Order: sequence, then C-alpha cells, then structure tokens
Amino acid sequence: MHPCARNASEAARHATLTRKQTPINFNSSSELPSTREKFNYGSRRNGEQGAIANVYPRESEFLKELRDATADYPGALMGTAPDAGQLMTLLLGLVNAKKTIEIGVFTGYSLLLTALAIPDDGKITSIDVSRKAYDDIGLPIMQKAGVEHKIDFVESPALPVLDKLLDNVSTNNTETD
Ligand SMILES: C[S@@+](CC[C@H](N)C(=O)[O-])C[C@H]1O[C@@H](n2cnc3c(N)ncnc32)[C@H](O)[C@@H]1O
Repeated sequence: MHPCARNASEAARHATLTRKQTPINFNSSSELPSTREKFNYGSRRNGEQGAIANVYPRESEFLKELRDATADYPGALMGTAPDAGQLMTLLLGLVNAKKTIEIGVFTGYSLLLTALAIPDDGKITSIDVSRKAYDDIGLPIMQKAGVEHKIDFVESPALPVLDKLLDNVSTNNTETD
C-alpha cells in the first residue's frame, strides 16, 4: 500500500496518480505515441464497435477523411491540426476571402478547408516544391468534395511564384485576399 494511503481506496487513487505522472522515456521509441495517435487527437473511440467519433462537429466529412488518410503518410505531423483549421475557416469567412494563396500544401488539409470556405468562383494559387503528397492523398478528396476547379497547383519553390504574382498585381491591378 502507498505510504500516504489510509485505506484501500486512497491506495488505488495514489497508484493511478503515480501511473499518470510517469514521464515518457524519449529514448524508447516504443513509448512514444504513434503518428496516428497524435494526429487523431481530434477523434475518440465511441461505443463497443470502436467507431471513430469526430470531436470537431464543424469539421467537414471531407476534411476528416483527408486527416484520417494523412495519419499514416510519411511526415503526417506536418499536417494542419483540426483546431487550427477551424480558426482558419473562421478567418476566411470573416474577410470573405475569394482569391487566396496557399504556400506549402503537403496532403492538402488547409488547402481543402480554404477551398470549402471560399465561394464557388473563388481561386487558390497553391504552391509546393512537390505535389506528390497532394496527388497521393489530397487530390482524390478534392475531386470528391467538388472543389478541384478552385485550385491552381504550382509545383515550385514559393518565392519565384510569389514574385510573378506581385508582377501581375502591378501590371494587371489584380489582387488576392
Ligand atoms: C507544414 S507542411 C504544409 C502543411 C499543409 N498546409 C497542411 O495543411 O497539411 C509544409 C509544406 O511546405 C512545402 N515547402 C517547404 N519549403 C517550401 C518552399 N520553399 N516553397 C514551396 N513549398 C515549400 C513542403 O514540401 C511541405 O509540403
């Protein structure tokens, strides 16, 4: 029995607290949470079937699908977190964004949330040095969500593309939100 416990129920409580406070041993990879466990922190097991319930009720089914598909993809932790995504959606709505730029697409979580937030004739110039993760994971979900027509993907380092966009702004007087 724990030395501070006066009875069995206090002993059990002390044991629980002690277990919870055990620090993670970062030298042992088996003790680290998996990428899926970390990435799916917005979901929880629900009921006997073990179905995943989304704890972000305003996250669209397509975003949830993309987040789930990304969880086992190399570099998954780079993906935008669902709570950050909800804030981005709020901000896009507040400024009535229509023409936007996405720098760093990866599998496309923030790209998809932007595409869902802007109007049907909105545009996203999306830039990434590689479109592999987008093609592997994001693109089929964009197509399913019916937002692919808003996306202009440029596979390139961002700076030269941004320079070109700035040139267009000064010559054609076009802007992005
Ligand atoms: C943090 S991830 C982006 C996450 C993504 N917005 C999401 O919601 O999942 C960073 C991405 O930026 C890309 N990247 C890194 N340096 C870049 C650069 N100089 N120009 C364009 N893309 C770049 C990487 O290839 C990677 O896909």
